[in-house]
Amino acid sequence: EAAHRLFSPGADFLKGVVAMDGLPRDDRLEVCFAGRSNVGKSTLINALTGRKGLARASNTPGRTQEINFFTLGSSHYLVDLPGYGYANAPLPVVERWQALLRAYLAGRANLRRAFVLIDSRHGVKPPDEEIMTLLDRSAVTFQAVLTKADKVKEQDREKMLAQVRERLSKHPAAFPEIVLTSSEKGQGIDTLRAIIATLP
Ligand code: GTP
Ligand code: MG
Repeated sequence: EAAHRLFSPGADFLKGVVAMDGLPRDDRLEVCFAGRSNVGKSTLINALTGRKGLARASNTPGRTQEINFFTLGSSHYLVDLPGYGYANAPLPVVERWQALLRAYLAGRANLRRAFVLIDSRHGVKPPDEEIMTLLDRSAVTFQAVLTKADKVKEQDREKMLAQVRERLSKHPAAFPEIVLTSSEKGQGIDTLRAIIATLP
């Protein structure tokens, strides 16, 4: 099917970008992965592409400090964004990443969907609200992806889904379907591949 066709040629690292003028040409469909530091963005990209070491994942929050572009086949880019809400780097550094992140999310013409990753244990936090509001204003459709589903019990998961659903209802650019994932267990990965492969 579509997901198999898109993902079987494989993914490769293209480049890390530190300023808007370093962005690759916008001649491919693009999806990005946004979320608080340590939520599991890089790990999710590795799970989707089936390449463990492709995006650098780490226990150290703030690992991804650039906008990292990966080619997927010949038609798509996957984009790993620096985490937000991470205060433990020098302030000017944090401010530079945040400015770049905002400029990218607001101004990328070929960006078809932003996946906003939310930790299943923590739910939607103020910095997530900020990003979702920015995406509303920029008219970028975004979809919530709950990560680390393997870390929560079934009843807590339901509560979290309800909280996220309620928050999304306030955001005009939010796509209503929430994807529940575990990069560890492979849960939701095929669903997300299919979503990426069949974007309008
Ligand atoms: P930054 O680059 O710092 O913004 O973080 P990130 O969002 O890219 O997170 P990353 O993928 O580096 O993952 C952070 C930690 O969470 C790592 O130790 C991962 O192994 C762990 N992790 C990611 N996804 C899952 C998951 O589905 N289940 C579990 N149990 N752990 C996960
Ligand atoms: Mg990362």
